[in-house]
Amino acid sequence: MLADAIRSRFPVFDNIVYLNSCSQGALSDSVRAAYLDYLEGLEREGSLWGHWVERLDQVRGALARLFGVTPGEVAVTTSESAGVAALASALDFDGTRNTVVTTSLEFPTIGQIWHAQERRGARVVHVEADPDSTIPLDRFADAIDDTTLIVSITQVCYRNGSVLDLAPIIELAHSRGALVLVDAYQGAGAIPLDVAALGADFVGGGCLKYLLGSPGVGYLVARADTTAGLVPTTTGWFGARDIFAMDIRSYDPAADARRFESGTPSVPSLYAAAAGVELMLEIGVAETHAHVQGLIGQLRGGIAELGGTVVTPESSRGPLLAVASVDEHEHVAALERDGVVVSSRDGNVRISPHCYNDDTDVEALLKALHTHRHLLRRP
Ligand SMILES: Cc1ncc(COP(=O)(O)O)c(C=O)c1O
Repeated sequence: MLADAIRSRFPVFDNIVYLNSCSQGALSDSVRAAYLDYLEGLEREGSLWGHWVERLDQVRGALARLFGVTPGEVAVTTSESAGVAALASALDFDGTRNTVVTTSLEFPTIGQIWHAQERRGARVVHVEADPDSTIPLDRFADAIDDTTLIVSITQVCYRNGSVLDLAPIIELAHSRGALVLVDAYQGAGAIPLDVAALGADFVGGGCLKYLLGSPGVGYLVARADTTAGLVPTTTGWFGARDIFAMDIRSYDPAADARRFESGTPSVPSLYAAAAGVELMLEIGVAETHAHVQGLIGQLRGGIAELGGTVVTPESSRGPLLAVASVDEHEHVAALERDGVVVSSRDGNVRISPHCYNDDTDVEALLKALHTHRHLLRRP
């Protein structure tokens, strides 16, 4: 089993059963060492400013390998929000194409950033999910038209684990002349995503969760062939063509995706993010996906036996399984008292196994769910 080979690199498992990678990936030995490397560097050299760009480029290179794009197509930001806000600032909403088509499955930051553009002339349309959290392709076909500037979709819904089939939506959007942004935060590192093959124009996310990194580092992949003409007005010196030009009399943005970056990066987090993404590449995303699907199958079976309700659609092959709860906060607290860490959103307990989890974790969780079965919401 994949977990056998790597589990000892994640000391949290000496203490608890950790099934909460949709919130934060477990700390590995190499990420811990990377944070220490930063601190020791400060003690040795006083400041590490000479290495900032080098570290940014290390993260950029690792993310480019992960997504199958060139390093020039990756902006390394301080959060996903920062990258998407820079992208939004590059869009012009006063022409005939002024509509943003998004979904009811998005993370709040995405909806909020697009609605903020209403002040600049944007019209925002939400494609609604069915009660089972899936969205039929027809609903996108009805919403996307020749006024659509960008289609903004999430790969995996953070609330319920629903996974969108991205390829047909992207194809549809492109056939109608719209750009596409994919929020990959809840998928990257857990589901293989070849951005060049998929053809998404933009992909946003961060390194905190299934990429095993740290808060403080996000990314915006911007495909060279479709996005080169878009120039952000939300910017800063790290987005300039020459960061060291120190020019206060003009704006000369980088020609590649780096133009979506802004100010001083979160430097300690860059050390951690580089180590985390590189470790995830070493472990393998495809291998992780297959491994986790085995654990999810085991979980689905066990929860059904307990009479619980999985709200994640059966067809969704993601890393997040959501289980209906009568009191999500008490449920998470009760499981935590039994040594099992999960999280909750929107009335559901969220269980999110990753490469390092194994069947002992699944069994421990099912045992705790059984103990607290009065908190399971029945169908
Ligand atoms: C799907 C999704 N998008 C966006 C975010 C937030 O991004 P950030 O805080 O980096 O802007 C999260 C965080 O949990 C998320 O799950």
